[in-house]
Amino acid sequence: MARRGWRDTGSAIKARDMTDSLTIRRPDDWHVHLRDGDMLKAVVGHTARQFARAIVMPNLTPPVTNVALANDYRTRILAALPDEADFTPLMTCYLTNNTDPEEVRRGFESGAFTACKLYPAGATTNSDSGVTDVANIRGVLEVMAEIGMVLCVHGEVTNADVDIFDREAVFIDRVLAPLLKDLPTLKVVFEHLTSEEGVSFVESAADNVAATITPQHLHINRNAMLVGGMRPHAYCLPVAKREKHRLALRRAATSGSAKFFLGTDSAPHQREAKESACGCAGIFNAPFALESYLAVFEEEHALDKFEGFASLHGPQFYGLPVNEERVTLERRDCSVPALIDAGDAQLVPFHAEQTLRWQLAD
Ligand code: DOR
Ligand code: ZN
Repeated sequence: MARRGWRDTGSAIKARDMTDSLTIRRPDDWHVHLRDGDMLKAVVGHTARQFARAIVMPNLTPPVTNVALANDYRTRILAALPDEADFTPLMTCYLTNNTDPEEVRRGFESGAFTACKLYPAGATTNSDSGVTDVANIRGVLEVMAEIGMVLCVHGEVTNADVDIFDREAVFIDRVLAPLLKDLPTLKVVFEHLTSEEGVSFVESAADNVAATITPQHLHINRNAMLVGGMRPHAYCLPVAKREKHRLALRRAATSGSAKFFLGTDSAPHQREAKESACGCAGIFNAPFALESYLAVFEEEHALDKFEGFASLHGPQFYGLPVNEERVTLERRDCSVPALIDAGDAQLVPFHAEQTLRWQLAD
């Protein structure tokens, strides 16, 4: 259904197509934290309602570092799904300095792993067992390049002398650019891109380099975290940066380029763990992720680019089929609650107490 609307821009009146509903192939989430135990049971239904598949992050305690642990985790995810859910978790292998290249090959070839995840040690939640130097996983990366397996990268250096707002840009110079020079065919997803430098790097790289973009990095800059008081629910890693970076991300996401696709990085932490003297990094955006992204595409007059970003570019990069089912989003107010119950705990969702203008139809 389409109606023609009129928008007064101040200097001129322009006609613009206004759409009231949007039907697209069912989207996937190419980066999510589903956690474990009671938290998994509380959050997995939100992701399964919005997405057909998701790349599931392996940063549990202990981390998912081999095929047996990934298969067990997948079983727990499937057991935690609501009865009516139609959802496929795609598992990842947490790389450590000691990862066995043959375990990675076996896991990929048997379908246990879809990708490997590189956490620089100490970069974020449960990354202490991560990689201290990519030279330590050279053998793993060679095998991945050989078999065409995707490396998902948390792209931040951890050096104490590097300002936290510069850690992504410095990672490109010190780690990612040299790595791709060394292994130019390695498939890399630069996860949760947050900077203008990141956008430029991915745009100018070859087709084996792509990026995911979260809803929060399209909506907020660092002011949201720091103006008028410290706002722990706007804190995630990599941190939101200056406005020019947010604008670069919005341009990239809505450009239609197949290098950029949806990855929510939904990362639930219970409310008390965020509202604390040392609050955890992570934004829980799973319940209204599509509504949140679509607000951005509408503001950028790029509704026609949404299906590519949400449903086509990700499977294309991963070499997986696109989903055959369709979902419809309708232009209808959607009130985001202040809190979402998670068993005995409570979660504060992204956009808490705001109204979004689209809603995923049931
Ligand atoms: O904000 C974040 N939270 N960034 C990450 O990289 C990890 C995540 C988490 O697991 O909480
Ligand atoms: Zn993440």
